[in-house]
Amino acid sequence: MTINEIRTKYLKFFEARRHTIIPSAPIVPQNDPTTLFTGSGMQPLITYLLGAPHPQGNRLVNSQKSFRAEDIEEVGDNRHTTFFEMLGNWSLGDYFKKEQLPWFFEFLTKEIGLDTQKLYVTVFIGDEKNNVPRDTESAEIWQKLFADKDIEAKVVEVGSEADGYRLGMQEGRIFFYDASKNWWSRAGVPENMPAGEPGGPDSEVFYDFGTPHDPKFGPECHPNCDCGRFLEIGNSVFMQYLKQPDGSFELLPKQNVDFGGGLERIAAAAQNNPDVFAIDVFADTIGLLIHFSGKEYTDSRYTRSFRIVADHMRAATFMLGAGVRPANTERGYVLRRLLRRAAQHAQKLGVEHGEGKESMLVKCAVNFIEKYKQAYPELVSEEVYQIISDEIWKEEKQFAHTLESGMREFEKVAQAGHISSDDAFVLFTTYGFPFEMTLELAHERGIDVDEDGFATAMKKHRELSRAGSEQKFKGGLADTSEKTTRLHTAHHLLLKALQIVLGPTVKQRGSNITQERLRIDFSYGAKMTLEQLKEVERIVNEKIAEALPMIHSTLPKEEAEKLGAEHEFGAKYPDMVSVYALGPKGATKANPQLDKAFSIEFCGGPHVSNTKEIGEGGTFKIQKEEAVAAGIRRIKAVLTD
Ligand code: SER
Repeated sequence: MTINEIRTKYLKFFEARRHTIIPSAPIVPQNDPTTLFTGSGMQPLITYLLGAPHPQGNRLVNSQKSFRAEDIEEVGDNRHTTFFEMLGNWSLGDYFKKEQLPWFFEFLTKEIGLDTQKLYVTVFIGDEKNNVPRDTESAEIWQKLFADKDIEAKVVEVGSEADGYRLGMQEGRIFFYDASKNWWSRAGVPENMPAGEPGGPDSEVFYDFGTPHDPKFGPECHPNCDCGRFLEIGNSVFMQYLKQPDGSFELLPKQNVDFGGGLERIAAAAQNNPDVFAIDVFADTIGLLIHFSGKEYTDSRYTRSFRIVADHMRAATFMLGAGVRPANTERGYVLRRLLRRAAQHAQKLGVEHGEGKESMLVKCAVNFIEKYKQAYPELVSEEVYQIISDEIWKEEKQFAHTLESGMREFEKVAQAGHISSDDAFVLFTTYGFPFEMTLELAHERGIDVDEDGFATAMKKHRELSRAGSEQKFKGGLADTSEKTTRLHTAHHLLLKALQIVLGPTVKQRGSNITQERLRIDFSYGAKMTLEQLKEVERIVNEKIAEALPMIHSTLPKEEAEKLGAEHEFGAKYPDMVSVYALGPKGATKANPQLDKAFSIEFCGGPHVSNTKEIGEGGTFKIQKEEAVAAGIRRIKAVLTD
């Protein structure tokens, strides 16, 4: 069964159940500055799940183009893709569990024809702390559905993922897991949800490919095991709750269903083949690569590269179709990375390389346009086709040039048996050779790379390439509007709060502030815990509430350093520097009491004059904490109602 057939069947199935088919939202989100790409079907529908009436009614269905940048590194195994289509159906306060679960079951078993024996399901075990009951109703519905197919479905308790690896299958068919597995919100588990975020318990369906368990993942296999035997093919979220400012959960005005199922995964299950790259949409592209490389897809030395080229070129095609262009920042950077990784792996496969429209990557893109133009007419026009092929070829040429000299240098330095931080640094800065490529090539050859040394060298490099305190935030501020200025002052509070919670060795490594959000990169060696994030948020909000004055002074550099003002190590500052200090209460320009300030930084401004002005923008909230490089973390935060 092809992707197009499954998509059409799904849309028609729910249309027959009085759902309105709505188009996929663009892959580049509209009016949502918090994420670069649409990553799930519900994301564009959030206001309706919160209670606003949808103009097209309270039963909706679609197939949503989705992209998850965080999965780039995972691509290469048999299940991860960056781009995917998420089949979604929604009840906005209309039907609920007793319709949703039987419908999805019927769709899988009747429409797609999956063998019921191969289906396993999970349900929510309950969460006393947050007053969310155990989902016995879903378990009972599933039991009856399986009984109707003459399958006695044993219900078993699991708990967490770790419990799953310990307890194993227990001959179960219906598995109770905790919130780490059977709760869904954009922010994850209940504790991670900010106030105002909707979420709820969910029930997932897994397909059993029957492959042997790989004990590398844990002693026993269970539906949520990562060994590859089970693949999650659909998730019915019962979007019922709204997180309150006091941390508790209240019922939403409407009890919604938010269903999401990976189209490609359902297609893999329909073929009973665990390799999602074996589905029809990839067939022509992989066939083309086999033809022009003379390599076999099944040759384990090359399988990963085949998959990376196929995945990345499909994602790149959709991004280019959505107006993204290769660049060094944000979306454009993600696209550039996809194209360059694809080029690198095409090279690894040894594909014959044509020019312009004959380029292998352009040919891959043309294949995907063919496959998808019926469902996504935005890919059809001659103009879009021209742009897609021109942009790919332009990027390829530029990268080929970079690679050629970089590869030569890499091979030279790799002779030493390891890659020193200096070598990696020179490869990156002089040859423009991506560090991840150095890592990847070194990994393939089984040689070490001094990653920490590289991070340190990069840090020094960045510091030296900036000069002067006035410059410090200039690059990081999108503009000097009121909103950006509030976030800029919040950024100072945040850095100090991070030092209080994580220790004084935390230093700023980069910053970027727009009207919508702030971003800070800082040195710290581990993922922050939930408690640490909460504590940082609490401190920042406390300081906002304390209404601390922001005092600007210009003083001799030595004096500012003595006061412990934050600045960038190694950067060149003028003799007189501009310094911003927050607090203490009662500080004035005439009597700044800099030694008693809560936070003090070398900085060019602009800032609010009192932290209470930040409070007018909302409550300070951390949205994301993630790694950006070895020893460097990134936080994104907003002011929200
Ligand atoms: N929102 C859920 C998910 O992304 C179901 O649509 O998995």
